Amino acid sequence: MSENTTLEKRGNFTGKIGFVLAAAGSAVGLGNIWRFPYLAAEYGGGIFLLVYIILAVTFGFALMAAEILIGRKTGLSAIGAFKALDKRFSFVGVLAAIVPAIILPYYCVIGGWVAKYIAVFATGKAQAAADGGDYFTNFISGTAEPIGWFFLFLALTAVVVLLGVEKGVERVSKIMMPLLVVMIIGITVYVFCQPGALAGLKYYLVPDFSHFKATTVLAAMGQLFYSMSLAMGIMITYGSYMKKDVNVESSVHNIEIFDTGIAFLAGLMIVPAVTASGGDMSKGPGLMFVALPKVFDGMFGGTVIGLVFFILVFFAAITSSISLMETVVSIVKDKFKLSRTVSCIIVLAICLLLGIPSALSNGGILSGIKIIGYGFLDFFDFISNSVLMPIVALITCIFVGYVLKPKALIAEAEECGNKFKAKRLFTVVIKYIAPICIVLILGFSVLEAMGVITV
Ligand code: PFF
Repeated sequence: MSENTTLEKRGNFTGKIGFVLAAAGSAVGLGNIWRFPYLAAEYGGGIFLLVYIILAVTFGFALMAAEILIGRKTGLSAIGAFKALDKRFSFVGVLAAIVPAIILPYYCVIGGWVAKYIAVFATGKAQAAADGGDYFTNFISGTAEPIGWFFLFLALTAVVVLLGVEKGVERVSKIMMPLLVVMIIGITVYVFCQPGALAGLKYYLVPDFSHFKATTVLAAMGQLFYSMSLAMGIMITYGSYMKKDVNVESSVHNIEIFDTGIAFLAGLMIVPAVTASGGDMSKGPGLMFVALPKVFDGMFGGTVIGLVFFILVFFAAITSSISLMETVVSIVKDKFKLSRTVSCIIVLAICLLLGIPSALSNGGILSGIKIIGYGFLDFFDFISNSVLMPIVALITCIFVGYVLKPKALIAEAEECGNKFKAKRLFTVVIKYIAPICIVLILGFSVLEAMGVITV
């Protein structure tokens, strides 16, 4: 059983609100604010949004419910849970455990970028950063700077995990999160008032089916898993600490609305900001760092607003990186029977090993090195979100659909005394729709990437 300290100290979540807040704290992070908007911009705006929402209410709902219920049923985290339910499926737990270990290092690289932008706004360089991209490109093309900020973010995460002071961070972030939402809404309203924003708004909200590709669905699916912390064992662990009388179905709906709502708002703020500032949609991972400083530059009090904004994003990022590191540390600790401190040091070493190449792969000295066409950061992002997570999700669906049977989890859900309303949807998605779609999406995307087909 995982000895995730945050969760352990929490013992059983006191009730539904405690559970929803904790799970949403892990779910809401850079995935919503940094990753979702740039993918939406890159993959055709409205069509990406539409595909994402359809996937969220079907796949997202069914998979999150399944993971939480597996955790609650067994009272174990991923590796133990699959093993306890069926020994033949133990490997799924192991596969799921690899995902956060791949994500954490590059998550800290992006966290470092956020920290850098706090410094930019705090030291009066906001105007320099509002140049439409060169400032950002120069920053990530360097060596000492991206590595330094990555170290800082990683060190802060590790200190919190090592000292076990997650509770304090959680308490602060409970104030920061609503503030972040309010701020995103405020900035969005300001952006809407700028000339040129309407084109971005239209691009973001109105689906253009000519942009539809298999990779759009793959990207949306990977983003869904990433954003909702699915297919990496996290929700199984969270479920293992949930009391039997809590209604899983409505908790999942709450987390889903929360997570998707924040991602949607972040897109609503950033995509129109791109057209308003005459930028281009294909900036990729740098989109937020390029588009927003321009917005802040034109605002009254923009430097302070930008500073506060990046501080709030930093909090959303650090709560997620803490939860990622906790997960990896507890896996290492349980698997190799090591102390918490030694496990932490091993995880730190892995992060440095994978994080340094990622920090230097976006224009930096290692950007010439490509793995299947991707630089290090993009490769780790691709392999975790577009390959491993869909595979873990696929096997989880097959396991729940045909070995454990949906009935068993529905019965677990109904332990709270309420009927599981979306029984049919849950069963059909887990048994048929999700496995078939995942296989098709993976297959088409591979063919598309190889240039065999163009969809
Ligand atoms: N869901 C988080 C995000 O959207 O940023 C990423 C994440 C955090 C994944 C924590 C997993 C996790 F344990």
